[in-house]
Amino acid sequence: MRNLLVTGGAGFIGSNFVRYLLDKYPDYRVVVYDKLTYAGNLDNLLDIQDDPRYTFVRGDICDVARVEAVVQEYDIDAIVNFAAETHVDRSLMQPGSFIQTDVYGTYVLLEAARKFGLERVHQVSTDEVYGQVLEGASLETDPLITRSPYSASKAAGDLMCLAYFTSFGVPVTITRGSNNIGPYQYPEKAVPLFITNAIDDIPLPLYGDGRQMRDYQYVLDHCEGIDVVLHQGVPGEIYNLGTSVETENIVMARLILDLLGKPHSLIQHVTDRPGHDRRYSLNCDKIAALGWRSRHSFEEALEKTVRWYVDNEWWWRKIKTGEYWEYYRRQYEGR
Ligand code: NAD
Ligand code: DAU
Repeated sequence: MRNLLVTGGAGFIGSNFVRYLLDKYPDYRVVVYDKLTYAGNLDNLLDIQDDPRYTFVRGDICDVARVEAVVQEYDIDAIVNFAAETHVDRSLMQPGSFIQTDVYGTYVLLEAARKFGLERVHQVSTDEVYGQVLEGASLETDPLITRSPYSASKAAGDLMCLAYFTSFGVPVTITRGSNNIGPYQYPEKAVPLFITNAIDDIPLPLYGDGRQMRDYQYVLDHCEGIDVVLHQGVPGEIYNLGTSVETENIVMARLILDLLGKPHSLIQHVTDRPGHDRRYSLNCDKIAALGWRSRHSFEEALEKTVRWYVDNEWWWRKIKTGEYWEYYRRQYEGR
């Protein structure tokens, strides 16, 4: 496995993963295949653009001919699929694009893997496929009781991967990760939204009572877990990937304000997200048996993340302009 196609590699986790791979494996070649939607950004890959082991191709994972051409041209051995529509709130506004990319696009990649006999398709999935978990922790074998168009689309993508393994012997693996935080996360997601708003003294819109719980993990820990499964995971298997530490959103918001020396009065409770999943929780014993565990505590991960946004205004100020504020108004006005 030396020639990897990283779909969605210009997004948040994908770009961190590409940097991680090139650092760790000097003999790997990485082709990033990305449509560059609003969430894709070549600035995320700026520091590796001159690396001869890295190539960027702009393309849609739903485009069969283009996917097949890239797999052949670059003699691809394996696909790691990060490409997706990823924001739950946008899935409530515009579910169609989620079904198209997260379900149909996954099918296109699986077909290409089947046709060209690839060694692996790794599907980057999410803890949201289990639905909200009010008590206990989800096992990989638990039923998928999804509640948002985003999580339903991701669950369908996972099921298609398993179907291709069972029906056609395509060697797939799946990881289901919890909430990632770290460098290059588009500032629509709660953590970078709250950090960048706080820097500018703009209110932090906290949904409902703010007592919903998430397991926030540092993005490079997640990348390391994906690497472990890519190289040691068993085809046809699913691996949960999280820290097992849960934090309420209101606690996360207050910590961000404390780290930036800003007042808690910047927190503004707004109308809750429809169908808001109250809690996710992953049992991660299966990946622990492969030797993986997250390296960063929540506090370390958040501190590093806040520092990155403070030090990299060049990156997010370009994003927080016209189109972004249009979305922001649609999403938050009158809530
Ligand atoms: P992101 O929104 O930052 O990036 C998604 C990338 O996919 C972008 O570069 C975008 O241009 C690209 N893309 C979208 N549609 C495409 C298409 N049709 N063809 C090609 N490229 C396309 O997302 P992220 O947060 O980096 O998430 C990456 C993956 O990890 C997703 O599959 C997501 O479901 C999963 N995941 C995310 C988290 C999280 O906390 N962010 C946690 C667990 C799992
Ligand atoms: O759990 C993994 C998932 O984490 C990924 O699969 C998704 O791609 C990713 O977007 C993320 O989903 P969440 O909905 O958990 O993340 P988000 O950052 O949107 O919200 C985190 C929590 O904060 C959630 O409980 C909703 C809340 N929130 C979010 C926003 C955007 C707010 O209170 N206010 C906000 O403005």
